[in-house]
Amino acid sequence: MQDRLESTYQQALAELETVRDSDVLRDWELKYLGKKGAITELVRSVGQLPKEERAAFGKHANEVKEALNAAFAAREALVRQQELARDLEEGEVDVTLPGRAPATGGLHPSTQTLREFYDIWGDMGFQVYRSREVEDDDTNFTLLNIPPHHPARDMQDTFYTTTPNIILRTHTSPGQIRAMRDLGERGTQPIRVILPGMCYRYEQITTRSEIQFHQVEGLAIGRNIHMTDLKGTITAFAQRMFGENARVRFRASYFPFTEPSMEVDVECFLCAGQGCRVCKYSGWLEIAGSGMVHPTVLRSGGYDPSEWSGFAFGMGPERVTMLKHGITDIRYFWGNDLRFLEQF
Ligand code: PHE
Repeated sequence: MQDRLESTYQQALAELETVRDSDVLRDWELKYLGKKGAITELVRSVGQLPKEERAAFGKHANEVKEALNAAFAAREALVRQQELARDLEEGEVDVTLPGRAPATGGLHPSTQTLREFYDIWGDMGFQVYRSREVEDDDTNFTLLNIPPHHPARDMQDTFYTTTPNIILRTHTSPGQIRAMRDLGERGTQPIRVILPGMCYRYEQITTRSEIQFHQVEGLAIGRNIHMTDLKGTITAFAQRMFGENARVRFRASYFPFTEPSMEVDVECFLCAGQGCRVCKYSGWLEIAGSGMVHPTVLRSGGYDPSEWSGFAFGMGPERVTMLKHGITDIRYFWGNDLRFLEQF
């Protein structure tokens, strides 16, 4: 057994000399020094020797083990160094190559349009007023002159919550009430604000209607505000948004919270009013609902309608974005398809 120990030792050393990479090194370690390695087995078999030989054999075996451990460590260091050198040589990096640009995010097309709105309205003295998306039935309807059971409630299908009277706002107009009560100082101060934000309607989703969409409400309250102010202000907006030659027309309409009420059309900029698919061959595109604030609504906001008046409008930024870019399906806006979003 002494001989076997010695020959195994020599064989192990010889083999170790030829090892060039860490995989083979690991195999070698398992083969000789591992739990079932040749040396380990020999050490374990010491019990088969006659008693008087055991001590000497054990001592020798331990010496061999230590010597091999040391040889292994030395070889390991050498192999590591060689592998590193090889890596550096083979994996040479060309540091002069141009880098890859990291992918950057972009603004959602609606956000871009909203910011354009803020710029234009801001220049005309309208501040942004943020109102809540979760509203109560009163503010969304009743205070806007839409009492319970009023047929106009059918114009907007509502998302109700499990809490009575708490709904998702169906338009930004309830923000009119909140802005008047918040900024009006009990009906003593003029107001000029826009109220942007998400609205929700329980509707069939189609290419033209979504269950969620932005609106930008506008509200101006003062002692001397007339319909000419409304028409002039909206025309100025349209000329900045759609070009200085943009023509605007006002059509009589109905909203419970304005009187009189008008719908605003801008001449179709895709066909210059000649008639095309987008404007449905009418030459005009609808961009807003508007009107003079109804006396009941002024009163809801704390103003005396015999002294104060105002105008209001509501626009749809998604609609404007669709018109500007020729987008034919509103479902792209919240579809989270990067192929759509990356175009803006
Ligand atoms: N709230 C109306 C709608 O959602 C738009 C509107 C706002 C009309 C302000 C007149 C005045 O359709």
